[in-house]
Amino acid sequence: MKRIKIFDTTLRDGEQSPGCSMNLSEKLEMARQLDALGVDVIEAGFAIVSPEDFKSVEAISQTVHNCSVASLARCTKGDIDAAWGAVKGAKKPRIHVFIATSDIHMEYKLKMSREEVLESITKNVAYAKSLCDDIEFSAEDGSRSDWEFLAKCYSNAVAAGATVLNVPDTVGYSTPDEMYSLIRYLKENVEGVENVDISVHCHDDLGLAVANSLACIRAGATQVECTVNGIGERAGNASLEEIVMALHTRAAYYDAETGINTKQIYKSSKLLSSITGVPIAPSKSIVGANAFAHESGIHQHGVLANALTYEIMRPSDVGIPQNTMVLGKHSGKHALRDQLEAMGYNFTDEQMEEIFARFKILADKKKNIMISDLEALALNRRHKDLGGWQLTKHVVNVGTGIPNTAYVQLVHEGEDAEEVAIGTGPLDASFKAINRLTRMKNVNLDSFSLNAVTDGEDAIGEAVVKLNYDGEQYTGTGISTDVIEASIRAYVNGINKIKAHQKG
Ligand code: KIV
Ligand code: ZN
Repeated sequence: MKRIKIFDTTLRDGEQSPGCSMNLSEKLEMARQLDALGVDVIEAGFAIVSPEDFKSVEAISQTVHNCSVASLARCTKGDIDAAWGAVKGAKKPRIHVFIATSDIHMEYKLKMSREEVLESITKNVAYAKSLCDDIEFSAEDGSRSDWEFLAKCYSNAVAAGATVLNVPDTVGYSTPDEMYSLIRYLKENVEGVENVDISVHCHDDLGLAVANSLACIRAGATQVECTVNGIGERAGNASLEEIVMALHTRAAYYDAETGINTKQIYKSSKLLSSITGVPIAPSKSIVGANAFAHESGIHQHGVLANALTYEIMRPSDVGIPQNTMVLGKHSGKHALRDQLEAMGYNFTDEQMEEIFARFKILADKKKNIMISDLEALALNRRHKDLGGWQLTKHVVNVGTGIPNTAYVQLVHEGEDAEEVAIGTGPLDASFKAINRLTRMKNVNLDSFSLNAVTDGEDAIGEAVVKLNYDGEQYTGTGISTDVIEASIRAYVNGINKIKAHQKG
Protein backbone atom coordinates (compact mmCIF):
# COMPACT_ATOMS: atom_id res chain seq x y z
CA MET A 1 0.00 0.00 0.00
CA LYS A 2 1.10 3.53 -0.74
CA ARG A 3 1.81 5.64 2.35
CA ILE A 4 0.19 9.08 1.99
CA LYS A 5 1.71 11.86 4.07
CA ILE A 6 -0.67 14.24 5.78
CA PHE A 7 0.49 17.86 5.76
CA ASP A 8 -1.70 19.84 8.12
CA THR A 9 -2.04 23.56 7.47
CA THR A 10 -4.71 24.34 10.09
CA LEU A 11 -2.31 26.70 11.85
CA ARG A 12 -1.33 28.56 8.66
CA ASP A 13 -3.91 28.48 5.83
CA GLY A 14 -6.66 27.57 8.31
CA GLU A 15 -5.77 30.30 10.74
CA GLN A 16 -5.90 32.85 7.89
CA SER A 17 -9.67 32.37 7.61
CA PRO A 18 -11.93 34.99 9.22
CA GLY A 19 -12.82 34.27 12.84
CA CYS A 20 -10.22 31.50 13.18
CA SER A 21 -7.24 33.38 14.60
CA MET A 22 -5.57 31.78 17.62
CA ASN A 23 -3.18 33.05 20.26
CA LEU A 24 0.13 31.41 21.09
CA SER A 25 -1.10 29.08 23.82
CA GLU A 26 -4.06 27.99 21.66
CA LYS A 27 -1.74 27.28 18.71
CA LEU A 28 0.52 25.23 20.95
CA GLU A 29 -2.39 23.24 22.30
CA MET A 30 -3.63 22.57 18.77
CA ALA A 31 -0.12 21.66 17.58
CA ARG A 32 0.24 19.09 20.40
CA GLN A 33 -3.08 17.58 19.39
CA LEU A 34 -2.06 17.43 15.72
CA ASP A 35 1.12 15.66 16.77
CA ALA A 36 -0.96 13.15 18.76
CA LEU A 37 -3.25 12.76 15.73
CA GLY A 38 -0.22 11.61 13.79
CA VAL A 39 0.07 14.17 11.00
CA ASP A 40 3.39 14.01 9.13
CA VAL A 41 3.90 17.75 8.82
CA ILE A 42 2.49 20.74 10.69
CA GLU A 43 2.64 23.99 8.76
CA ALA A 44 2.93 26.17 11.84
CA GLY A 45 2.63 29.58 10.20
CA PHE A 46 4.18 32.21 7.96
CA ALA A 47 7.12 33.41 10.05
CA ILE A 48 7.84 36.69 8.19
CA VAL A 49 4.31 38.03 8.62
CA SER A 50 4.76 39.41 12.17
CA PRO A 51 6.90 38.90 15.27
CA GLU A 52 3.93 37.01 16.78
CA ASP A 53 3.78 34.62 13.84
CA PHE A 54 7.52 34.06 14.09
CA LYS A 55 7.24 33.35 17.83
CA SER A 56 4.44 30.85 17.39
CA VAL A 57 6.24 28.93 14.61
CA GLU A 58 9.35 28.87 16.79
CA ALA A 59 7.44 27.70 19.87
CA ILE A 60 5.63 24.96 17.93
CA SER A 61 8.97 23.80 16.48
CA GLN A 62 10.28 23.34 20.00
CA THR A 63 7.12 21.66 21.27
CA VAL A 64 6.15 18.86 18.91
CA HIS A 65 8.09 15.60 18.97
CA ASN A 66 7.03 13.43 16.07
CA CYS A 67 6.15 15.42 12.98
CA SER A 68 8.02 17.84 10.75
CA VAL A 69 7.36 21.56 11.27
CA ALA A 70 7.18 23.88 8.27
CA SER A 71 7.02 27.63 7.85
CA LEU A 72 5.78 29.27 4.68
CA ALA A 73 8.08 31.70 2.81
CA ARG A 74 7.77 33.68 -0.41
CA CYS A 75 10.65 33.46 -2.85
CA THR A 76 12.72 36.12 -1.08
CA LYS A 77 15.80 35.90 1.12
CA GLY A 78 14.07 37.77 3.96
CA ASP A 79 11.14 35.34 4.03
CA ILE A 80 13.41 32.31 3.84
CA ASP A 81 15.67 33.60 6.63
CA ALA A 82 12.64 34.22 8.85
CA ALA A 83 11.22 30.77 8.08
CA TRP A 84 14.53 29.08 8.87
CA GLY A 85 15.00 31.15 12.04
CA ALA A 86 11.61 29.96 13.26
CA VAL A 87 11.85 26.24 12.36
CA LYS A 88 15.51 25.51 12.91
CA GLY A 89 14.84 24.30 16.48
CA ALA A 90 12.44 21.60 15.25
CA LYS A 91 13.43 17.93 15.24
CA LYS A 92 12.45 17.83 11.57
CA PRO A 93 12.41 21.36 10.10
CA ARG A 94 11.02 22.19 6.66
CA ILE A 95 10.96 25.45 4.69
CA HIS A 96 7.98 25.83 2.37
CA VAL A 97 8.86 28.22 -0.46
CA PHE A 98 6.21 29.42 -2.91
CA ILE A 99 5.73 31.68 -5.92
CA ALA A 100 2.78 32.12 -8.28
CA THR A 101 3.09 30.53 -11.71
CA SER A 102 -0.20 31.28 -13.50
CA ASP A 103 -0.14 33.96 -16.20
CA ILE A 104 -2.74 36.06 -14.39
CA HIS A 105 -0.80 36.04 -11.08
CA MET A 106 2.56 36.65 -12.75
CA GLU A 107 1.26 39.58 -14.80
CA TYR A 108 -0.97 41.37 -12.27
CA LYS A 109 0.37 40.38 -8.87
CA LEU A 110 4.06 39.64 -9.27
CA LYS A 111 4.67 41.74 -12.38
CA MET A 112 7.28 39.20 -13.37
CA SER A 113 7.97 37.39 -16.64
CA ARG A 114 8.12 33.59 -16.91
CA GLU A 115 11.91 33.79 -17.15
CA GLU A 116 12.11 35.86 -13.98
CA VAL A 117 9.91 33.41 -12.10
CA LEU A 118 12.05 30.47 -13.24
CA GLU A 119 15.21 32.26 -12.08
CA SER A 120 13.65 33.18 -8.77
CA ILE A 121 12.70 29.54 -8.12
CA THR A 122 16.25 28.33 -8.83
CA LYS A 123 17.85 31.04 -6.72
CA ASN A 124 15.53 30.90 -3.72
CA VAL A 125 15.03 27.14 -3.51
CA ALA A 126 18.83 26.78 -3.64
CA TYR A 127 19.20 29.39 -0.89
CA ALA A 128 16.60 27.63 1.29
CA LYS A 129 18.41 24.34 0.63
CA SER A 130 21.67 25.85 1.88
CA LEU A 131 19.93 26.26 5.26
CA CYS A 132 17.62 23.25 5.53
CA ASP A 133 17.54 19.73 4.04
CA ASP A 134 13.80 19.48 3.65
CA ILE A 135 12.43 22.02 1.14
CA GLU A 136 8.90 22.10 -0.19
CA PHE A 137 8.22 24.17 -3.28
CA SER A 138 4.69 25.33 -4.19
CA ALA A 139 3.60 26.84 -7.48
CA GLU A 140 0.76 29.10 -6.33
CA ASP A 141 -2.28 28.91 -8.64
CA GLY A 142 -0.56 25.86 -10.14
CA SER A 143 -3.80 24.36 -11.43
CA ARG A 144 -4.44 27.44 -13.63
CA SER A 145 -0.84 27.62 -14.88
CA ASP A 146 0.39 26.62 -18.30
CA TRP A 147 1.32 22.94 -17.88
CA GLU A 148 4.54 23.05 -19.86
CA PHE A 149 5.76 26.11 -17.95
CA LEU A 150 4.65 24.55 -14.66
CA ALA A 151 6.72 21.43 -15.39
CA LYS A 152 9.75 23.68 -15.98
CA CYS A 153 9.17 25.48 -12.65
CA TYR A 154 9.05 22.16 -10.80
CA SER A 155 12.09 20.82 -12.69
CA ASN A 156 14.05 23.91 -11.61
CA ALA A 157 12.89 23.43 -8.02
CA VAL A 158 14.04 19.79 -7.99
CA ALA A 159 17.39 20.74 -9.53
CA ALA A 160 17.82 23.38 -6.80
CA GLY A 161 17.16 20.84 -4.05
CA ALA A 162 13.40 20.69 -3.39
CA THR A 163 12.25 17.49 -1.68
CA VAL A 164 8.50 18.07 -2.10
CA LEU A 165 6.65 19.61 -5.05
CA ASN A 166 3.26 20.97 -4.05
CA VAL A 167 0.51 21.55 -6.63
CA PRO A 168 -2.05 24.03 -5.30
CA ASP A 169 -5.54 24.52 -6.65
CA THR A 170 -5.37 27.94 -5.00
CA VAL A 171 -8.78 29.23 -6.06
CA GLY A 172 -10.64 25.91 -5.94
CA TYR A 173 -11.34 26.00 -9.69
CA SER A 174 -10.32 22.54 -10.86
CA THR A 175 -12.28 19.34 -11.19
CA PRO A 176 -11.13 15.87 -10.08
CA ASP A 177 -10.49 14.75 -13.70
CA GLU A 178 -8.36 17.81 -14.38
CA MET A 179 -6.34 17.42 -11.20
CA TYR A 180 -5.81 13.72 -11.98
CA SER A 181 -4.52 14.55 -15.47
CA LEU A 182 -2.29 17.37 -14.18
CA ILE A 183 -0.56 15.10 -11.67
CA ARG A 184 -0.07 12.40 -14.33
CA TYR A 185 1.39 15.02 -16.66
CA LEU A 186 3.80 16.32 -14.01
CA LYS A 187 4.90 12.80 -13.15
CA GLU A 188 5.86 12.34 -16.78
CA ASN A 189 7.35 15.75 -17.48
CA VAL A 190 9.18 17.03 -14.40
CA GLU A 191 12.86 16.13 -14.34
CA GLY A 192 13.83 14.25 -11.20
CA VAL A 193 10.21 13.86 -10.05
CA GLU A 194 10.85 10.22 -9.13
CA ASN A 195 13.07 11.37 -6.23
CA VAL A 196 10.59 13.72 -4.55
CA ASP A 197 7.11 13.72 -3.05
CA ILE A 198 4.26 15.17 -5.08
CA SER A 199 1.84 17.05 -2.88
CA VAL A 200 -1.58 18.64 -3.51
CA HIS A 201 -3.22 21.59 -1.84
CA CYS A 202 -6.88 22.07 -2.78
CA HIS A 203 -9.31 24.82 -1.82
CA ASP A 204 -13.03 24.23 -1.58
CA ASP A 205 -14.60 27.07 -3.57
CA LEU A 206 -16.65 24.62 -5.67
CA GLY A 207 -16.94 22.03 -2.90
CA LEU A 208 -14.43 19.79 -4.70
CA ALA A 209 -11.35 20.07 -2.46
CA VAL A 210 -11.57 16.57 -1.00
CA ALA A 211 -12.58 14.95 -4.32
CA ASN A 212 -9.71 16.75 -6.06
CA SER A 213 -7.21 15.66 -3.40
CA LEU A 214 -8.33 12.03 -3.66
CA ALA A 215 -8.11 12.15 -7.48
CA CYS A 216 -4.51 13.36 -7.11
CA ILE A 217 -3.71 10.46 -4.80
CA ARG A 218 -5.06 8.09 -7.47
CA ALA A 219 -2.78 9.81 -9.96
CA GLY A 220 0.30 9.33 -7.77
CA ALA A 221 0.46 12.21 -5.26
CA THR A 222 2.08 11.09 -2.01
CA GLN A 223 1.28 14.07 0.22
CA VAL A 224 -2.00 15.93 0.77
CA GLU A 225 -2.39 19.31 2.41
CA CYS A 226 -5.50 19.80 4.48
CA THR A 227 -6.98 21.35 7.62
CA VAL A 228 -9.03 20.12 10.55
CA ASN A 229 -12.74 20.80 9.92
CA GLY A 230 -11.72 22.10 6.47
CA ILE A 231 -11.12 25.65 7.77
CA GLY A 232 -9.19 27.98 5.48
CA GLU A 233 -9.27 30.94 3.10
CA ARG A 234 -12.77 31.67 1.67
CA ALA A 235 -14.64 28.33 1.44
CA GLY A 236 -11.78 26.57 3.20
CA ASN A 237 -9.18 23.90 2.47
CA ALA A 238 -9.65 20.18 1.94
CA SER A 239 -10.84 18.66 5.19
CA LEU A 240 -8.31 16.42 6.93
CA GLU A 241 -10.91 14.16 8.51
CA GLU A 242 -12.72 13.56 5.21
CA ILE A 243 -9.55 12.71 3.27
CA VAL A 244 -8.22 10.46 6.02
CA MET A 245 -11.48 8.59 6.52
CA ALA A 246 -12.01 8.19 2.76
CA LEU A 247 -8.56 6.58 2.54
CA HIS A 248 -9.19 4.52 5.67
CA THR A 249 -12.67 3.32 4.71
CA ARG A 250 -11.80 2.70 1.03
CA ALA A 251 -8.21 1.53 1.60
CA ALA A 252 -8.50 -1.26 -0.97
CA TYR A 253 -9.85 1.09 -3.63
CA TYR A 254 -7.12 3.71 -3.10
CA ASP A 255 -4.47 1.14 -2.21
CA ALA A 256 -3.21 3.77 0.22
CA GLU A 257 -2.95 4.46 3.92
CA THR A 258 -1.97 7.31 6.23
CA GLY A 259 -0.16 7.40 9.56
CA ILE A 260 -3.14 9.07 11.26
CA ASN A 261 -4.52 7.69 14.50
CA THR A 262 -8.15 8.01 13.42
CA LYS A 263 -9.34 7.73 17.02
CA GLN A 264 -7.92 11.22 17.62
CA ILE A 265 -9.99 12.81 14.84
CA TYR A 266 -13.05 13.76 16.87
CA LYS A 267 -10.96 15.25 19.67
CA SER A 268 -8.93 17.32 17.19
CA SER A 269 -12.08 18.61 15.55
CA LYS A 270 -13.73 19.51 18.88
CA LEU A 271 -10.61 21.20 20.19
CA LEU A 272 -10.32 23.41 17.12
CA SER A 273 -13.98 24.34 17.26
CA SER A 274 -13.70 25.17 20.95
CA ILE A 275 -10.58 27.32 20.43
CA THR A 276 -11.93 29.28 17.46
CA GLY A 277 -15.56 29.39 18.53
CA VAL A 278 -16.50 28.26 15.01
CA PRO A 279 -19.16 25.57 15.39
CA ILE A 280 -19.15 22.32 13.42
CA ALA A 281 -22.20 22.05 11.13
CA PRO A 282 -24.44 19.17 12.29
CA SER A 283 -24.32 17.56 8.85
CA LYS A 284 -20.52 17.90 8.48
CA SER A 285 -19.10 14.58 7.28
CA ILE A 286 -17.21 12.51 9.87
CA VAL A 287 -17.42 14.94 12.82
CA GLY A 288 -20.86 16.62 12.61
CA ALA A 289 -23.38 15.83 15.36
CA ASN A 290 -25.60 14.01 12.83
CA ALA A 291 -22.82 12.20 10.98
CA PHE A 292 -23.67 8.91 12.69
CA ALA A 293 -27.31 9.56 13.65
CA HIS A 294 -29.92 7.33 11.98
CA GLU A 295 -33.25 9.09 12.02
CA SER A 296 -35.45 7.07 9.68
CA GLY A 297 -37.15 3.99 11.10
CA ILE A 298 -36.02 1.85 8.16
CA HIS A 299 -32.40 2.82 8.76
CA GLN A 300 -32.66 2.29 12.52
CA HIS A 301 -34.13 -1.15 11.96
CA GLY A 302 -31.37 -2.03 9.50
CA VAL A 303 -28.61 -0.82 11.83
CA LEU A 304 -30.04 -2.79 14.74
CA ALA A 305 -30.13 -5.95 12.62
CA ASN A 306 -26.62 -5.38 11.26
CA ALA A 307 -24.76 -2.08 11.65
CA LEU A 308 -23.12 -2.55 8.23
CA THR A 309 -26.48 -2.06 6.48
CA TYR A 310 -26.19 1.69 6.83
CA GLU A 311 -22.90 2.33 8.61
CA ILE A 312 -19.69 2.46 6.59
CA MET A 313 -17.67 3.62 9.62
CA ARG A 314 -18.23 3.30 13.33
CA PRO A 315 -18.30 6.40 15.55
CA SER A 316 -15.57 4.78 17.63
CA ASP A 317 -13.29 4.68 14.53
CA VAL A 318 -12.96 8.45 14.75
CA GLY A 319 -12.96 8.54 18.54
CA ILE A 320 -16.55 9.62 19.17
CA PRO A 321 -17.29 8.40 22.70
CA GLN A 322 -20.58 6.81 23.67
CA ASN A 323 -22.37 9.47 25.67
CA THR A 324 -22.89 7.43 28.82
CA MET A 325 -23.36 8.60 32.37
CA VAL A 326 -19.98 8.41 34.03
CA LEU A 327 -19.86 10.42 37.24
CA GLY A 328 -22.15 12.02 39.80
CA LYS A 329 -22.29 14.49 42.62
CA HIS A 330 -20.30 12.29 44.98
CA SER A 331 -17.47 11.47 42.62
CA GLY A 332 -14.04 12.58 43.82
CA LYS A 333 -11.04 14.12 42.15
CA HIS A 334 -9.40 10.75 41.46
CA ALA A 335 -12.47 9.41 39.68
CA LEU A 336 -12.64 12.61 37.64
CA ARG A 337 -8.96 12.41 36.71
CA ASP A 338 -9.26 8.70 35.78
CA GLN A 339 -12.27 9.41 33.58
CA LEU A 340 -10.62 12.38 31.86
CA GLU A 341 -7.48 10.35 31.24
CA ALA A 342 -9.56 7.54 29.74
CA MET A 343 -10.98 10.18 27.38
CA GLY A 344 -7.44 11.24 26.44
CA TYR A 345 -7.20 14.44 28.51
CA ASN A 346 -4.15 14.76 30.75
CA PHE A 347 -3.92 17.70 33.10
CA THR A 348 -1.45 19.04 35.62
CA ASP A 349 -2.43 19.09 39.32
CA GLU A 350 -3.12 22.80 39.11
CA GLN A 351 -5.36 22.40 36.08
CA MET A 352 -7.16 19.53 37.82
CA GLU A 353 -7.94 21.80 40.80
CA GLU A 354 -9.71 24.21 38.46
CA ILE A 355 -11.58 21.50 36.55
CA PHE A 356 -12.62 19.79 39.76
CA ALA A 357 -14.01 23.06 41.15
CA ARG A 358 -16.06 23.53 37.95
CA PHE A 359 -17.08 19.85 38.05
CA LYS A 360 -18.45 20.23 41.61
CA ILE A 361 -20.54 23.25 40.62
CA LEU A 362 -21.86 21.36 37.60
CA ALA A 363 -22.59 18.20 39.59
CA ASP A 364 -24.63 20.26 42.05
CA LYS A 365 -26.82 21.43 39.19
CA LYS A 366 -26.93 18.18 37.17
CA LYS A 367 -27.56 14.81 38.74
CA ASN A 368 -25.78 12.73 36.16
CA ILE A 369 -22.54 13.82 34.58
CA MET A 370 -22.21 12.48 31.06
CA ILE A 371 -19.14 12.07 28.85
CA SER A 372 -20.19 15.16 26.87
CA ASP A 373 -20.28 17.26 30.09
CA LEU A 374 -16.71 16.28 30.92
CA GLU A 375 -15.64 16.98 27.37
CA ALA A 376 -17.07 20.50 27.63
CA LEU A 377 -15.24 21.04 30.94
CA ALA A 378 -11.97 19.71 29.55
CA LEU A 379 -12.16 21.82 26.42
CA ASN A 380 -12.94 24.97 28.37
CA ARG A 381 -10.32 24.77 31.04
CA ARG A 382 -7.71 26.73 29.11
CA HIS A 383 -9.37 29.96 30.36
CA LYS A 384 -7.47 29.75 33.62
CA ASP A 385 -4.14 29.17 31.84
CA LEU A 386 -4.56 32.52 30.12
CA GLY A 387 -4.55 34.31 33.50
CA GLY A 388 -6.22 37.71 33.81
CA TRP A 389 -9.70 38.22 35.21
CA GLN A 390 -11.92 35.39 36.41
CA LEU A 391 -15.62 35.47 37.28
CA THR A 392 -16.43 34.93 40.93
CA LYS A 393 -20.03 36.13 41.26
CA HIS A 394 -22.81 37.64 39.21
CA VAL A 395 -26.40 38.71 39.80
CA VAL A 396 -28.68 40.04 37.09
CA ASN A 397 -32.01 41.68 37.63
CA VAL A 398 -34.25 41.79 34.58
CA GLY A 399 -37.94 42.23 33.99
CA THR A 400 -40.57 44.18 32.10
CA GLY A 401 -40.83 47.84 33.07
CA ILE A 402 -37.71 47.84 35.25
CA PRO A 403 -34.11 48.75 34.36
CA ASN A 404 -31.95 45.73 33.48
CA THR A 405 -29.08 45.67 35.93
CA ALA A 406 -26.08 43.43 36.39
CA TYR A 407 -23.74 43.04 39.34
CA VAL A 408 -20.45 41.34 38.36
CA GLN A 409 -17.61 40.40 40.67
CA LEU A 410 -14.27 39.42 39.14
CA VAL A 411 -11.00 38.41 40.71
CA HIS A 412 -7.66 39.56 39.32
CA GLU A 413 -4.31 38.56 40.82
CA GLY A 414 -6.03 37.61 44.07
CA GLU A 415 -8.01 40.88 44.36
CA ASP A 416 -11.80 40.97 44.07
CA ALA A 417 -13.44 43.86 42.28
CA GLU A 418 -17.14 44.52 41.66
CA GLU A 419 -19.31 46.73 39.48
CA VAL A 420 -22.97 47.33 38.80
CA ALA A 421 -24.23 48.51 35.41
CA ILE A 422 -27.53 49.17 33.66
CA GLY A 423 -28.07 47.99 30.09
CA THR A 424 -30.65 47.27 27.42
CA GLY A 425 -30.72 43.62 28.52
CA PRO A 426 -28.95 41.31 30.98
CA LEU A 427 -25.97 40.74 28.70
CA ASP A 428 -25.55 44.38 27.74
CA ALA A 429 -25.60 45.31 31.44
CA SER A 430 -23.12 42.53 32.33
CA PHE A 431 -20.73 43.39 29.50
CA LYS A 432 -20.80 47.09 30.52
CA ALA A 433 -19.94 46.12 34.10
CA ILE A 434 -17.04 43.98 32.83
CA ASN A 435 -15.74 46.80 30.61
CA ARG A 436 -15.64 49.10 33.62
CA LEU A 437 -14.01 46.50 35.88
CA THR A 438 -11.31 45.70 33.38
CA ARG A 439 -10.95 49.31 32.27
CA MET A 440 -11.59 48.43 28.66
CA LYS A 441 -12.95 51.09 26.33
CA ASN A 442 -13.81 50.82 22.65
CA VAL A 443 -14.44 47.08 22.67
CA ASN A 444 -17.09 46.19 20.12
CA LEU A 445 -19.14 43.05 20.19
CA ASP A 446 -19.04 41.79 16.57
CA SER A 447 -21.11 38.70 17.23
CA PHE A 448 -22.57 36.58 19.96
CA SER A 449 -23.86 33.02 19.76
CA LEU A 450 -25.09 30.41 22.16
CA ASN A 451 -25.25 26.66 21.56
CA ALA A 452 -26.22 23.71 23.69
CA VAL A 453 -23.13 21.49 23.79
CA THR A 454 -24.76 18.67 25.75
CA ASP A 455 -28.28 17.22 25.69
CA GLY A 456 -31.32 17.54 27.93
CA GLU A 457 -33.03 20.21 30.01
CA ASP A 458 -29.93 20.81 32.10
CA ALA A 459 -27.69 21.01 29.03
CA ILE A 460 -24.44 22.93 29.13
CA GLY A 461 -24.60 26.01 26.95
CA GLU A 462 -21.52 27.39 25.24
CA ALA A 463 -21.46 31.11 24.55
CA VAL A 464 -19.11 32.50 21.92
CA VAL A 465 -18.34 36.21 21.62
CA LYS A 466 -16.30 37.81 18.85
CA LEU A 467 -14.86 41.06 20.19
CA ASN A 468 -13.32 43.72 18.02
CA TYR A 469 -10.57 45.82 19.55
CA ASP A 470 -8.18 48.05 17.68
CA GLY A 471 -9.08 46.44 14.35
CA GLU A 472 -8.40 42.87 15.55
CA GLN A 473 -10.93 40.20 16.35
CA TYR A 474 -10.75 38.13 19.54
CA THR A 475 -12.88 35.06 20.28
CA GLY A 476 -14.07 34.41 23.81
CA THR A 477 -15.89 31.26 24.89
CA GLY A 478 -17.59 30.24 28.10
CA ILE A 479 -19.70 27.33 29.28
CA SER A 480 -22.29 26.88 32.00
CA THR A 481 -25.74 25.39 32.50
CA ASP A 482 -26.77 29.04 33.06
CA VAL A 483 -26.73 30.91 29.75
CA ILE A 484 -26.02 34.29 31.33
CA GLU A 485 -23.07 32.91 33.25
CA ALA A 486 -21.76 31.24 30.05
CA SER A 487 -22.05 34.60 28.26
CA ILE A 488 -20.25 36.50 31.03
CA ARG A 489 -17.47 33.91 31.07
CA ALA A 490 -17.15 34.18 27.27
CA TYR A 491 -16.91 37.98 27.46
CA VAL A 492 -14.30 37.88 30.24
CA ASN A 493 -12.33 35.30 28.25
CA GLY A 494 -12.39 37.61 25.21
CA ILE A 495 -11.19 40.57 27.32
CA ASN A 496 -8.38 38.44 28.79
CA LYS A 497 -7.25 37.57 25.27
CA ILE A 498 -7.12 41.26 24.36
CA LYS A 499 -5.09 42.00 27.50
CA ALA A 500 -2.72 39.08 26.84
CA HIS A 501 -2.24 40.33 23.28
CA GLN A 502 -1.47 43.85 24.56
CA LYS A 503 1.16 42.47 26.94
CA GLY A 504 2.69 40.55 24.00
O1 KIV B 1 -3.53 28.12 -1.70
C1 KIV B 1 -2.32 28.24 -1.95
O2 KIV B 1 -1.88 28.34 -3.09
C2 KIV B 1 -1.42 28.27 -0.81
C3 KIV B 1 0.04 28.15 -1.14
C4 KIV B 1 0.84 29.17 -0.43
C5 KIV B 1 0.50 26.76 -0.89
O3 KIV B 1 -1.84 28.30 0.32
ZN1 ZN C 1 -3.97 27.62 0.34
